[in-house]
Amino acid sequence: MDYDVIIRGTGRYVPERVLTNDDFARIVDTSDEWITARTGIKERHIVAPGETASYMSEMAVRKALEMAGADPAEVELIVVPTVTPEHVYPATASVVQGRIGATKAACFDMNAACSSFIYALNVATNFLRVGQYKNALVIGSDIMTSIANYLDRNTCVLFGDAAAVLYLVAEPRSETPRGIRAFDLGSDGTAVDILYQYAGGSAAPPTPRTALDEGHFVYMEGPEVFKRAVRTMEQTVRDVIAKENVEPLEVDWFLAHQANSRIIQSTQKRLQVPAERVYINIQRYGNTTSASIPLCIDELNEEGKLKSGNKVVLFAFGAGLSWASCYLIWEGQRE
Ligand code: ACO
Repeated sequence: MDYDVIIRGTGRYVPERVLTNDDFARIVDTSDEWITARTGIKERHIVAPGETASYMSEMAVRKALEMAGADPAEVELIVVPTVTPEHVYPATASVVQGRIGATKAACFDMNAACSSFIYALNVATNFLRVGQYKNALVIGSDIMTSIANYLDRNTCVLFGDAAAVLYLVAEPRSETPRGIRAFDLGSDGTAVDILYQYAGGSAAPPTPRTALDEGHFVYMEGPEVFKRAVRTMEQTVRDVIAKENVEPLEVDWFLAHQANSRIIQSTQKRLQVPAERVYINIQRYGNTTSASIPLCIDELNEEGKLKSGNKVVLFAFGAGLSWASCYLIWEGQRE
């Protein structure tokens, strides 16, 4: 049996502590003017002691489940896309399960770098579409400040911490198209070395040497990533909507992974769509990796800006070099 997969709850958790661009100007050789002009970021939130990936996830999940009127004990699947899991193992999803009491749920984490959230959304959607599970939590949760090098101005100013979640429910197929409709996923593994974290995996297990060599931090060739991101994001958006015979101008909301406002604006210009349909909140959060897209969805949902029937495209690009997009038709919350 084939089901419709509908977003019935959204939630987010953003730590209270804020680092502004001026704060960074006291740490590295940078300025509010440079960061604002080159990235669009004004401030980012960073965790305090105790605000772990699973804690942030729990807070976001409680809001989403409340919105959906769902009990944690009903949850059947928890997927946590993340590049900064709480531990190497167990899965952060299992830690979240224990925190919320989702005793029935299957749990695992996923990593496709900045594209992780959409990859995980695709996997969870497929479980629901075929009827293996009735519902799923997809929780983007990243503590990017745990892998940011605060001595490297090229990268440290870009990242922030947050968690955000979508609660998906499988519902009987409707005559009218609704819910999550299509995905486009991809990767170019020939360019893995322009954006990566060298150490901490099995190739370079953590040692005092890997720490001294700064191998546990984000390494990025920014301008090269930038160019590829713009080209690829435009293409993946076109590809995913073409699967449902939709044109760019028919789309109501373009929700991009928030890595740099200039990347998002360049993509918008290449797609030749109005800027008002492209949501940008990077000025408040920086790049929160797996949390960034559900953070956009939860904000828009809370503000009542997502209307039933709205056509929405999610799209992302990141290390791998991975990319992903999703086309969905928004359905409002149940009355
Ligand atoms: N403050 C001041 N100057 C800076 C800073 C800073 N924070 N950072 C870099 N600069 C300097 C550079 O050193 C360079 O100086 P130089 O010309 O004397 O060498 C100059 O600014 C220009 O640097 P560029 O790298 O050319 O600047 P650019 O306009 O490309 O912006 C940025 C850099 C913001 C990193 C941009 O390239 C970018 O956003 N790239 C893509 C990021 C992205 O998409 N990442 C993917 C997700 S991350 C993930 O997957 C985990």
